[in-house]
This record gives sequence, C-alpha cells and structure tokens, in this order.
Amino acid sequence: MHIKAVTLRDFRNYELQEFTPSEGLNLIYGDNAQGKTNLLEAVFICAFGRSQRTVHDTDLIMHGKTCARVKLTVTGEESGEHVIKISLGEHKTVETDGVRIKKLGDLMGILKVVMFSPESLSLVKGSPSERRRFMDMCISQLSRVYFFKLQQYNAALKQRNALLKSPNAHSLLSVWDEQLAVSGAYIAEARERFVTQLSPVTEQIHEKLSLGRDSISVVYSPSVRAENTSLAEALLRKLESSRDEDIKRGSTGVGVHKDDISIKTNGLDSRTFASQGQQRTAALALRLSEIKFIKRISGENPVVLLDDVFSELDMGRCSAILECVEGCQCIFTSAQDVSLGQAVQKTLCKDGKLEIITK
Ligand SMILES: Nc1ncnc2c1ncn2[C@@H]1O[C@H](COP(=O)(O)OP(=O)(O)OP(=O)(O)O)[C@@H](O)[C@H]1O
Ligand SMILES: [Mg+2]
Repeated sequence: MHIKAVTLRDFRNYELQEFTPSEGLNLIYGDNAQGKTNLLEAVFICAFGRSQRTVHDTDLIMHGKTCARVKLTVTGEESGEHVIKISLGEHKTVETDGVRIKKLGDLMGILKVVMFSPESLSLVKGSPSERRRFMDMCISQLSRVYFFKLQQYNAALKQRNALLKSPNAHSLLSVWDEQLAVSGAYIAEARERFVTQLSPVTEQIHEKLSLGRDSISVVYSPSVRAENTSLAEALLRKLESSRDEDIKRGSTGVGVHKDDISIKTNGLDSRTFASQGQQRTAALALRLSEIKFIKRISGENPVVLLDDVFSELDMGRCSAILECVEGCQCIFTSAQDVSLGQAVQKTLCKDGKLEIITK
C-alpha cells in the first residue's frame, strides 16, 4: 500500500501543507526543529488514531489555534483507496471515506504502518510495557478482533483493580476474573503466534544488520502458561490464587498485562547486557521484521516511516535496511541530504513548509 497525499492544517508547526510522496523512497531533509518528525507523526496518527510521542492530542494543535486536521489518501493492492480524516480539537473525530467512526478499532489496518524512530530503542531498553505495545500495535493492524479484545481486557482490568480497593465488593471479583481469563487467553495466544512467526525473520535481519557478528533470540515471555489445561483455565486459577495478594496490593499482579518478550543478544538479556549499538540493531531488526510479517499476513506492504535512522548508521547497515524496505513506500527523515544510490524523491523541510526538490 502507499500514501497518495497528506494534507495538514494547523498541525504542529504546519499551517497548511500538502505533501504528495512518491510510491518508493522519500527523503524529508532539513535542519533540526523544522517539522520532519511532525510530518511522520501525522501519518502515524492516521494509522493508529494517536501519536507515537504524546498522549495529549492538544500538543498536536498549532499554538494559538483551536483544531488540527490531517487528511490522508491511501491506496492498497488488496484494500483499495481510502481517505482518512482526523480532526483534533475540543473533540477528536476520525472519519474514513466520509463516514465518522465511533470506535478507534475500526481505523486499524486501513493504513498499515511500520515506524522506526530514535524512541524505538525503548523497545529493547525500556520496560515490558514497551514490548507489549509493540506486539499489540502490530497485531491490531492485522486484526481488529485483537484490538477489541485488548480493549475488553483493559476495561475488565480497570474494574477488577477498582474492586480490589473496595473491601465490600470482593464477592464481585469472580465476574471480572472470568472476563480477564477469557480475553486474556485470546490475547496471549495471538501474541505467542506473532512472536513465533516474527522471530526467525528478526534473527535473519539481525544477522545482516550486525554483519554476522551478533546473534539475537526473540521469545514470547507470558505471565501465565497453561499446563494440562486451557490457557483461559490457567489464567483463571492464577487470578483466583493470587486474589489475597492482589487485595493487599490493590492491583492485579498476574495476567497478560504483565507479559513480555525476552530479547537476547548473543545469549544475554539485551536490556541489561547489550551495548547501545547492539540495542539499536536489535530494535531495528524487530521493526524491520514487522514489515515482512505484515506483508505475509495481509498480502500488502506497509508504509515504512524511518525517523532519523540513516544518519547514525554505516553504509553496510543502511543498505541492509534498504533491502528490507524494498517494494514498500518509505518516508525517511534526515538532517542531511543523504545519497542512497537509489531513486529517491527529495523534499526539503524548512520552518513548517515542505518543498519537493527532486522527484
Ligand atoms: N503544537 C505546536 N505548534 C507549533 N509548533 C510546534 C508545535 N509542536 C511542536 N512544534 C514545533 O515543531 C518543531 C519540531 O518539529 P520536529 O520535531 O518535526 O522537528 P525535526 O525537523 O524532526 O527536528 P530534528 O531534526 O531535531 O528531529 C519545533 O520547532 C517545535 O517548536
Ligand atoms: Mg525529528
């Protein structure tokens, strides 16, 4: 799939800007603080309904204005052409093809995106929640049912945690235990399948990126495992047996909200033992393998957004990345006008304005 056009209105430092990327490689270059990441952020929001770098939609509205708007036209080989419109003001509205959508889940998968930015390092370096988010975002792009199950789970978890804190209501806990067990089992099984399919691809890409020097292993690390029972049953038993502890703590200590992915570089935990460069390579390999995964499951290439990636990598790694994004529309940013030895549409970003320099 590829983006045909993006229009920004009062979005971050863009007052009114149209951008028409090429179907292949696109470089957005310019000095620091000119709006390169802001452009990628606008695209990301059209895929997930929220920003990758702020939870406050108001941050996205141009200072002094009341509403930010993004309109994006995307066309996919399988999914056809769609127009996504997002308006971020006092009330956030999301429209696809002129119809306002009520549930964010209905936006998932219309525009499939894989993004790598300097913050992606937290995928390896950060807390387990970062890795859960990685699994959840990727799977949600391919399965709205998964996204809805996740919402169901989080709502049930919130209810259970509230009940744990109110001593008179403990008798109601079993209702939520049941819900957490059923939706939790669905989520855990989908995550397990996802990591199992992703890991051989990650290993391959990682080998290329590290020029054969390091190896990586990526394994799903669930909070609860099923032994001789169904997973839902195992989760339920665990919730029941940890109830007293949960009441003492005032929160739920077991369940898929505690899952993780174990990422090891040369057999050792990457979070604790890998160097900054090794962590970066591991994070990049995971993100790049997501491209193949999306292609394999949906039959469509996702749009790839690479924020400030090439500036810090040597030529060997740069060409390994280009190999992975082959066939995809790719929008990448850099403070420099980089030459990649391939046809690239170059756009200069200056002070919240974009100007196509070479097509
Ligand atoms: N809501 C907003 N209204 C107006 N300007 C904003 C808003 N939010 C951010 N900016 C401005 O956008 C600019 C940063 O844009 P962005 O992060 O896209 O820069 P960049 O080109 O990616 O820079 P770098 O190369 O340093 O990553 C800053 O000058 C910032 O003040
Ligand atoms: Mg930036």
